[in-house]
Amino acid sequence: MAEKIVKVGLVGAGTIGKGVVDLYLRNGSAINNKVDFAVMMAKVADRDRDRLQGLDLEKEKLCTDASEILEDPDIDIVIELIGGIEPARSLIARAIENGKYVVTANKDLMARHGQELIRLARRNKVNIFYEASVGGGIPLIRPLKHSLVADRVSRVLGIVNGTTNYIFTRMDQDGLSLEDALSEAQRLGFAESDPTNDVEGLDAAYKLVIMANLAFGKKADFDQVHIEGIKGVTYEDISYAREIGYSVKLLAIGEDLPEGLALRVHPALVPLEHPLSSVLNELNAVFIESEAAKELMFYGPGAGAMPTAAAILSDVVEAARCIRFNVANGVVESELQETGFVPIGALEARFYLRYLVEDRAGVFASLANAFADEEVSLDMVIQKRRVGDLAEVVLVTHEAREDAFRRALEKVTDISAIKANPSIIRLLN
Ligand code: HSE
Repeated sequence: MAEKIVKVGLVGAGTIGKGVVDLYLRNGSAINNKVDFAVMMAKVADRDRDRLQGLDLEKEKLCTDASEILEDPDIDIVIELIGGIEPARSLIARAIENGKYVVTANKDLMARHGQELIRLARRNKVNIFYEASVGGGIPLIRPLKHSLVADRVSRVLGIVNGTTNYIFTRMDQDGLSLEDALSEAQRLGFAESDPTNDVEGLDAAYKLVIMANLAFGKKADFDQVHIEGIKGVTYEDISYAREIGYSVKLLAIGEDLPEGLALRVHPALVPLEHPLSSVLNELNAVFIESEAAKELMFYGPGAGAMPTAAAILSDVVEAARCIRFNVANGVVESELQETGFVPIGALEARFYLRYLVEDRAGVFASLANAFADEEVSLDMVIQKRRVGDLAEVVLVTHEAREDAFRRALEKVTDISAIKANPSIIRLLN
């Protein structure tokens, strides 16, 4: 039997696309030796000719129209790297309907429409792989889908956004303001020129939905994720947090509770002795708690052309194996279970608060009373003199239901001696 050559078409030759081509050119023959068959980068499409010209591939492999890949019966696998919902969604659907396997790094799409695309792939006896959609070069999708399938995962804690982790690290280590740390991140290429999705927590929320689907086998809904970005965190908060033994991280947290899934993205105080505290700069990590394996951590580069390209090419090899050995759609995810969701108000947490108050008799007592009224008990109280007759008060509560805590906050707002809205950060429990 003649050896099957598995042919790959790539759509989208931006930074990651170029990384995939470069890594393929560097490691292609080593990959072929490892898997004992040939994977060929047959065509690359991008509307932008300049991007195509930056690739070290023969001219006849380059095209500006993705249809040349989607409609080519010789192409077995399509790599989608254009990002966003449309036209990526239609393009992937067309590839699947034409019997092609799909590899994508598209987190927005997999979080919002992943289940419909997986279903379409299943019906067409192919598969869709998306290892690079979460955590860039960190193997995460495959461990969740394969290695942990027999375990019962109870909680997923992720630092899955490199931009915000870089910003918090610079604020902590160099005393920078959030704005200065963000500018530095942009200058060094760790943040996009429009960092909205990163700074506001949306990027982390997309990744959380993808991880929660796989970790819990239940249908996580992006619209049910409670999302808070990093804008409310100041250098002072990070500095006080360290004083009391915590670092500040933007966490994506998914929990499988008896009442349903609890999904949230927000800054959190993480104990310095927790492994996630030592994840610095633009690096990512996901900490998984499960019944059998107990605690696992996956750590590494969450973005960047080469780490992401390695994840994408590993998916290409997995798809190629299915084709080469005729295993139809191999391990394709089954339907996810429908589930309820636990609103943030019903969750319990400890809260850090920092207030600027007038430094006079009775102010602290009224603050403490507002919390006592809602049975929110205080665990730590720090008062520091600031300027003139203003003082800074840092409080840490004991565990309290979030809705009771919010009622207490409303009462505190009525106290005239309180000068500014507080910083509020939940503690990781
Ligand atoms: N912008 C993302 C981050 C990388 O900062 O982690 C891609 O998801």
